[in-house]
Parts: sequence; C-alpha cells; structure tokens
Amino acid sequence: MRSIVAVMGMLIVLAVLPLSAMAKGVAGIANTMHNMSKTTSSPYNASDEDEICIFCHTPHGGSLDGPLWNREMDDTASSNPLAANIAAPGYFTHYDSSTLGATAGDTARAVSTESLLCLSCHDGTIAVNRVINLSNRTPQLDATEPTERIRMNDQWVTIKEIGFPDPLAPGAWIGSSRDRLFNMIYNVGGDLSDDHPISFSYDAAYLDDPSGLDTTVNAAGKNVRFFGATNRVECSSCHDPHVDYGKYGTNAGDPAYTVYTPFLITPNTGSALCKACHVK
Ligand code: HEC
Ligand code: HEC
Ligand code: HEC
Ligand code: HEC
Repeated sequence: MRSIVAVMGMLIVLAVLPLSAMAKGVAGIANTMHNMSKTTSSPYNASDEDEICIFCHTPHGGSLDGPLWNREMDDTASSNPLAANIAAPGYFTHYDSSTLGATAGDTARAVSTESLLCLSCHDGTIAVNRVINLSNRTPQLDATEPTERIRMNDQWVTIKEIGFPDPLAPGAWIGSSRDRLFNMIYNVGGDLSDDHPISFSYDAAYLDDPSGLDTTVNAAGKNVRFFGATNRVECSSCHDPHVDYGKYGTNAGDPAYTVYTPFLITPNTGSALCKACHVK
C-alpha cells in the first residue's frame, strides 16, 4: 500500500514538473562551432582567448538570465552600431500563419529568456565576443568595449558580420530574415518571422490541435525538451548547445555524432525530431 502511495506521489510530481530532460547526445562542445576559443579549428574563433565556456558562462558575477550567464540582453550602451536591447517588448516579430492555433498564433507574446540566450548571439546584433566577465588572466582594458583579448579574427564582430557579405552564413538567418539578408539589409535584427515558432506553451498548443500534435509527455519521451511550468517550446527544445555533432576534433565525420548536426537535441533522421511533436 505504502509503495502504491509512493508511486502515485511520484506520478503526481512527474505530472507537474516541467519536462526539461537533459541533452540526449554526447556532450563535447570543444568539437563544435560553439568552441570560439583560439584552440579550435572552427573558422569563428578568438585571436587570443583560450577558454571555451567564457563566451557564454562565467563562474562569478554573471547575469541571472541563464546558468551563470556571461552575456547581456541589452547592449545599447555600447558603440556597436548594430547593438540592440533584444529583451525589449515587441523587439521580435514571431512566425505567423492562418493555420496556427490560438497559442502559437498569439504573435504579441514575449520571447522567453531561454531563447534570448541563443538570440543574444544569433540575432546578429550583439557582438559574439561581448561578455560581462573577462578572464582574470587577460585583464579588462575598457569596461564598455570588448578587449584585445576576446576577438574574432581580430575584430569585434556580430554573427551577421561573420556572415557578411555571404547571406548564406547559417547562423545569420535566426532573428534576421533570409529575405532581408538576400536584399543586403544587414543592420536589422528582431525578425523571427521565417523561423519555427518559439516561446509558447506546448500544453496549450496541444489543446488547440490534439490531432496534429502528440501529447507533451509523449513528445518529451521522444527526446525533445520543454521549459517552465507550462512546458514552453524554446530554441533548446530542438537544440543542445553543447552536443558533439562530429564537426571538428576526434569524432569528426563519425555518423554516430554527425546525426546531431547542427546542435540537435535528438537526431532528425527521417524527420524524427519533427515527428516527436507533429503527428504527420
Ligand atoms: C554558445 C554558448 C555556450 C557555451 C560556449 C557553453 N554553454 Fe553551457 N549552456 C548554454 C546554454 C544556452 C545553457 C542553457 C541550457 C540549454 O539551453 O541547453 C547552458 C547550460 C549549461 C549548464 C547547466 C545545464 C546543463 O546542461 O547541465 C552547465 C553546467 C553548462 N552549460 C556548462 C558549460 C561548460 C562547462 C561550458 C564550457 C566547457 C559551456 N557550458 C559552454 C550555452 C553555452
Ligand atoms: C556566444 C555566442 C553564441 C551563443 C550564445 C549561441 N551561439 Fe550558436 N553559434 C555561434 C557562432 C559564432 C556560430 C557559428 C557561426 C554561424 O553559424 O553563423 C554558431 C552556430 C550555431 C549553429 C550552427 C552550427 C553549424 O555547425 O552550422 C546552431 C544550430 C546554433 N549555433 C544554435 C545555438 C543555440 C540553439 C543556442 C542557444 C541554446 C546558441 N546557438 C547560442 C555563437 C553562439
Ligand atoms: C522546432 C525545432 C527547432 C526550434 C524550436 C529551433 N530550431 Fe534551430 N534548427 C532546427 C533544425 C532541425 C535545424 C537543422 C536544419 C537543417 O539541417 O536543415 C536547425 C538549424 C539551426 C541553425 C543552423 C542554420 C540553419 O538555418 O539551418 C541555427 C543557427 C539554429 N537552428 C538556431 C536556432 C535558434 C537560435 C533557435 C531559437 C530562436 C532555434 N534554432 C529554434 C530545429 C529547431
Ligand atoms: C518541440 C515540439 C516541436 C518540434 C520538435 C517541432 N515542432 Fe513544429 N510546431 C510545434 C508546435 C506546437 C507548433 C504550433 C502548432 C499550431 O499552433 O498550429 C509548430 C508549428 C510548426 C509549423 C507551422 C504550422 C502552421 O500552421 O503554420 C510548421 C510548418 C512546423 N511546425 C514544422 C516543423 C518541422 C518541419 C519540424 C522539424 C524540423 C518541427 N516543426 C519540429 C512543435 C514542434
């Protein structure tokens, strides 16, 4: 009897916990595009910073926006001409369509912090090397500018500038529409209109369309993850920023790793990632 009560208690706990399971691939950020240190063979790297985590995390004094997070959402005080406050209400335009349910179709919703973490680089407005807390081994030269020590190809660059003048640079499409980039309009961010919808409750979207989507529990069981009490869909529902997808280093080219390209939370072979949520 007691064990049945315990099991039921566990089920209740499971039912109210957000379904934010950990990454499913093997972690190995050193072998990915997210290794921006000078020690990588990735083309996008710092000229003189050898730490990897520092571009996103800091042990002390970080922002409370993410796990010991080393980046700001508001960079308008800087002298970077592209800089924006990506957390400002209404800054982002969401994807919209006539067939979306009411939840994902509410385009006035805010972009959640979990996704802003990614967009603080991938929107293309805030410089990739702009961090809050620099390495103690490489003391800060100026509080408002990136230092000599964390630079990419010796420049202070945003992801859009990494891509310039090639609009095909993949990271530049997230938060800056493909359309704009092809029309050579680089100095605008905030555009998610051609990106998969994010920052809404999957529970509520499922209720909008129970035959087109799988249940939250089933979807999570197929390795996608959800965030917060209402099980929101965010960038990291589909991505894991640390997963080794066999791009560089020891596992380069190994199909056991490359199926996670690019930073996928679970392989999309046969569209398995899409079908984790969509009944199609
Ligand atoms: C490009 C940005 C980026 C880099 C570089 C990065 N992380 Fe993360 N990390 C994130 C994000 C974003 C999260 C939030 C959870 C998520 O989205 O997966 C996170 C979460 C975490 C967490 C807490 C949750 C978890 O997955 O365990 C730990 C611990 C962590 N990172 C450690 C590290 C370490 C150690 C390094 C360097 C070896 C590193 N990260 C490099 C972006 C990064
Ligand atoms: C500190 C800056 C930074 C943050 C934060 C960051 N990225 Fe990236 N990311 C990069 C850079 C630089 C590249 C390589 C350049 C490019 O693709 O344009 C990249 C590339 C990627 C790629 C393409 C990889 C490839 O091999 O083509 C994906 C997917 C990606 N990031 C997803 C994410 C997601 C999801 C998050 C949040 C969980 C995130 N990134 C956070 C800097 C960042
Ligand atoms: C519903 C799942 C899903 C969500 C949510 C999602 N992505 Fe992706 N993303 C993918 C898949 C799948 C790919 C690989 C596409 C391919 O290989 O054709 C991808 C590719 C990318 C790439 C590589 C460039 C490209 O266009 O192929 C980047 C960068 C990226 N995602 C960043 C992000 C960021 C930042 C967010 C949040 C704003 C996000 N993603 C949200 C599924 C998702
Ligand atoms: C984590 C769950 C999840 C994953 C994974 C996922 N989606 Fe979605 N997707 C949704 C939800 C929820 C909606 C909103 C559905 C609604 O309200 O009609 C949506 C919306 C869409 C839409 C817009 C539908 C419309 O009516 O305009 C398309 C197209 C789409 N997804 C395709 C994909 C593809 C392709 C993949 C794989 C690369 C994918 N999705 C992966 C959850 C997911």
